[in-house]
Amino acid sequence: MRVSLDQAIALLKAGEVVAIPTETVYGLAADATNDSALAKIFTLKQRPADHPLIVHISDASQVHDWATIFPKVAMKLAHAFWPGALTLVLPAQSHVSRVVRGGEVTVALRVPSHPLAQDLLQKSGLSLAAPSANLFTQLSPTTAEHVESSLGATVPVVDGGPCQVGIESTIVSVNAAGDWLLLRPGMISETDITIVAGIPQLKKLLRTQQKAIPRSPGQHALHYSPRTPLLLFKDRATLILESNLLKNSGLSCGALLIGIGDMPSCQLLQLENNPPLVAEQLYSALHKLDALKLDRILVELPPIIPTWAAVLDRLNRAGFKAHSS
Ligand code: TXA
Ligand code: MG
Repeated sequence: MRVSLDQAIALLKAGEVVAIPTETVYGLAADATNDSALAKIFTLKQRPADHPLIVHISDASQVHDWATIFPKVAMKLAHAFWPGALTLVLPAQSHVSRVVRGGEVTVALRVPSHPLAQDLLQKSGLSLAAPSANLFTQLSPTTAEHVESSLGATVPVVDGGPCQVGIESTIVSVNAAGDWLLLRPGMISETDITIVAGIPQLKKLLRTQQKAIPRSPGQHALHYSPRTPLLLFKDRATLILESNLLKNSGLSCGALLIGIGDMPSCQLLQLENNPPLVAEQLYSALHKLDALKLDRILVELPPIIPTWAAVLDRLNRAGFKAHSS
């Protein structure tokens, strides 16, 4: 159900959930200080209670309302990338709801850049906890239609058009000592973060000291999956071979391809060989192929190089590597 900005604000203030556009993916938002509103997010998404939520704030000055400390490294990252597709995980103040923290001692914060998300935050004066607006483990939504097809037509949605970044934010945790760790890759790359932070990632230190790496809750191996079984291929020749085998055994398939080359004879979606463009269209393309109710979706993987890290991460969580490739 599409709602206006004013209707969304009234619903959120009344302790209801509303799906909202952000530049990354649509979020299922609720007042981050209202536990009964937050509980509705978990019920609607069928999400396990120990998965923490990202709190969306209107600007960096609000970090102090949620975190005990805003280390210099985190400040530099906020200054460089907010508003935008970066989430900072920082030590949480004691008043921060357990539901938001998922039982952790930290809180995840993000200042979204989408104009409607900004309007909502500024006009409502609320901070909004919002996970992606899809059922647990399913594909994230990048349009209002995706939200409705995953969560049902009765969910209130603010329609902000298709998301521009297209995949979830980069998550970086920064501890009180100012060490940082990449918890989820995104279109703001590890290299971008390293340059702005001015120090290397903690993981490198932890590895040499053989210490435990902080856990990153909610990062399931099989996340972001379409309903149709999805197979990943390192090269197009093997993908085409597989499509022929499927055809010969009477099974239907669709293929998501990156860049030019030979084409398999099945339903095709082809994306330009460009990481930001593929990220923008990735979930949309998978949603489209999923809706065709085929027997298999075959996906050509981009090369394993840093500029493709975020797209590779999401694809590897969405499907299985075809063993023959
Ligand atoms: O782009 C995005 O980040 C989108 C939009 C809506 O902002 N949100 C999003 O939320 O992707 P979600 O719930 O699908 O993923 C949030 C993830 C959790 O699964 C968890 O991995 C991490 O953020 N997270 C949240 N709070 C954390 C914490 N305190 N410590 C460690 N990880 C945390
Ligand atoms: Mg999600």
